[in-house]
Order: sequence, then structure tokens, then C-alpha cells
Amino acid sequence: MSTSIKSVRDLSLAGKSVFLRLDFNVPIEGGKVTDDSRIVEALPTIKYCLEKSARVVIGSHLGRPDGKKDQKFSMEPVAVHLSELLAVDVMLADDCVGEGIELLVKSQKNGTVLLLENLRFHEGEEKNDPDFVMKLGGLCEIYVNDAFGTAHRKHASTYGVAALAQTKAMGFLIEKELKFLEPLVKNPAKPFYAVLGGSKVTDKIKTVEALLRSVNGICIGGAMAHAFWAVTNTPIPDGAKKPKPEDIEAARGILREAKKREIPIHVPSDTNLGFDIGPKTVEDFSKFLSNAKTIFWNGPLGWFEKPEYAVGTFGVAKAISELSAVKIVGGGDTVSAIKQSGYAEKFDHLSTGGGAVLEFIENGSLPGIDILRQGYKRETTQAITRERI
Ligand code: 3PG
Repeated sequence: MSTSIKSVRDLSLAGKSVFLRLDFNVPIEGGKVTDDSRIVEALPTIKYCLEKSARVVIGSHLGRPDGKKDQKFSMEPVAVHLSELLAVDVMLADDCVGEGIELLVKSQKNGTVLLLENLRFHEGEEKNDPDFVMKLGGLCEIYVNDAFGTAHRKHASTYGVAALAQTKAMGFLIEKELKFLEPLVKNPAKPFYAVLGGSKVTDKIKTVEALLRSVNGICIGGAMAHAFWAVTNTPIPDGAKKPKPEDIEAARGILREAKKREIPIHVPSDTNLGFDIGPKTVEDFSKFLSNAKTIFWNGPLGWFEKPEYAVGTFGVAKAISELSAVKIVGGGDTVSAIKQSGYAEKFDHLSTGGGAVLEFIENGSLPGIDILRQGYKRETTQAITRERI
């Protein structure tokens, strides 16, 4: 499907103003970016646009300021960090729409970068408000989306502006994500196994339902495994997270469906105080996964931020890293865990999407990607209003 989407490579960019929607929603502490993975992943597209002498205008959200200006969510630390990574000046605008911003964009020189202030300082962004769409969309001649992590949102910058854009394309990051995620959804090499962790079953129920249509088995760890233990009356250690009734119900439904489809579901057979999977489980999971041709992993298998509870996640990461399967990891926490394990290099793809990757697995695409497709019926602002979420 991605063939019907133009790549930034297909556009003529010289001297043009390009609105680049990126996902710079990165963790910040003490005014500094603490994990720049998403910024680093966006660099190839930014650099390409600069090399082609475009006038680059970057838009992103940061956190959830709920439509109000809040210095805590300013893009300032991102501007500083991006400037260091690119080794060029990155001008930070004090807003993202309005006359002043229009003048700034008009006066921009070829091959320069302007970073707009947080798009979510305006409530029109999340509401996909037609007025905001018109203002934001009116800034530039070309629209390029490379914000895979936000492509599940039907917001002004990810959807409304793209719907109206005459010239639109995806950047290299979305292209890379699709290269790995489309085959995973459509035609994964079998046996295909999923490794799932994290805290709640209910957060992932739709993803698991979608996976059950294509996987050959699932390994479940993290606190979400406790809901599966509850179904089988396996004791949960004192002090460990207790599953909510709705999580237990969701786990029961998954087990029922998996049984009907004859798909094995592996849950931990031992635990380190309910905060990590135990050594026997690492061995069981590793053995089960050993003939995999495709593995999708979402969710840490324990409280990996604490070294004493990282052993299980890192142990399974090591076992998977030694396999010749296509190995794909999705979700911010999981990617951090794999990076900390030291085995990241051995994985084929670490997705920059959290919610986006799960929704991609559920639906086979995302609204912010579909809207980039050529021939997509250009909508009126009224239609956009109806699609507000
Ligand atoms: C993310 O971090 O998952 C994306 O940037 C989207 O952020 P959101 O969940 O606040 O929309």
C-alpha cells in the first residue's frame, strides 16, 4: 500500500517552503532532552530537505499541554538539541501560527530550519479545527509527514493539513517503519511469535485480538501476566501488582480465543517477587521462540528500570538477538529496555511508535499515513470538521 504514497525523494524541494511534521515528543528533564531517539531518527529527512535547499519548517507536539501555552512544554530544549545534532542554527518560533510566523516563514532563506513552538499550545491542533488547519496549512507549499509516532492521531498537523495539501509525501522514517510493519501485518514469515509485556491487558486487548489472527504463539510477561495467572488461580506474590477484574476478563477472553485457534499462550512459570520473570521462564520462552521466523515484541517483561528486575527482559532479549528471525520491537519502554540490554544492534527494527505501532497492528495502517496516499479525495474543511476527534 505504501507504493501509492510519495516519498520526500520524489519531490522537487529547491527554494520551496516545506512543512515537516515530526514527532519530537521526547522525554525532557531539567531542560534537557534525555532520550533523543526520535530526533535522531528524523535527521535523514531533515538533512535531505536541507541538502535540496528547501526552507524547512518543523512542527511537532511535546507532551499534552491541552491547548494552552505552558513553558514546561516548550520546544526550546528540542531546538537546542536539534541544532547540536545538525550542526546548524535552528531558529525557534514563539508560536506555530499567526501573522508573525507567516512573515518568519516568508523571510526564511533556502537551506535553513525553523522549528515552530509546540503545536498543542493551540486547542485547534488536537481538535483538527478547520481554522487552525487553514492557518497551519497556509504556511508552506509542501507537506511532508515523518511523525510515525503520532500518525494514529487525526490532528490538524497529522491529518487536516495533509488532507488539504496539494503536494504531500512521507519522510524516510515513515518509509522505514512501513518497510518493516506492513509485512508484519500482511504476510509475516512463519512461525510468527509475539512477546508481550507491560502492565495492563486491557491496554493491549485490541492488538492481541489482531495478533491472534496471524501469530503461531504468544509469550506474556510483565505485570499483565498476573491477569492470566488469576484466570488459572496461580498465586500472585504479595506486594506485586494485582490485576483489575477487567484485566482478568480480558485475559480469560484471550485464552478462550487462543484455545479455539490452537495458539499456544505462554505465561511465566516462575517469578522474581512478581517484578520480573524468573530464570525458568527465560529458558521456556527462549526455547519456544527458537524456531521463529518473525518476532514482534511489545512491552518489557519486568520492571527493567531496576537492575535487579531487568534480568528476565535482558535474558529474553539475548535469546532473541541470537535468532535469524525478523525481529521487530515496538513501544518506547520496550525500545529503551532493548537498548539497555546491549542487544539492540541485533534487532531488525526498533519502531519509534508506541500507541502508533499497536494501532498499526490492529488496523494495518494509520490515519496519518492513509491521508498521504495519492488520489486520496481532497476534503473540504467541512469534512474535516466532521472528522474531529
Ligand atoms: C507518542 O509519544 O506516543 C506520540 O508522540 C503521541 O503522543 P500522544 O499520545 O500524546 O498523542
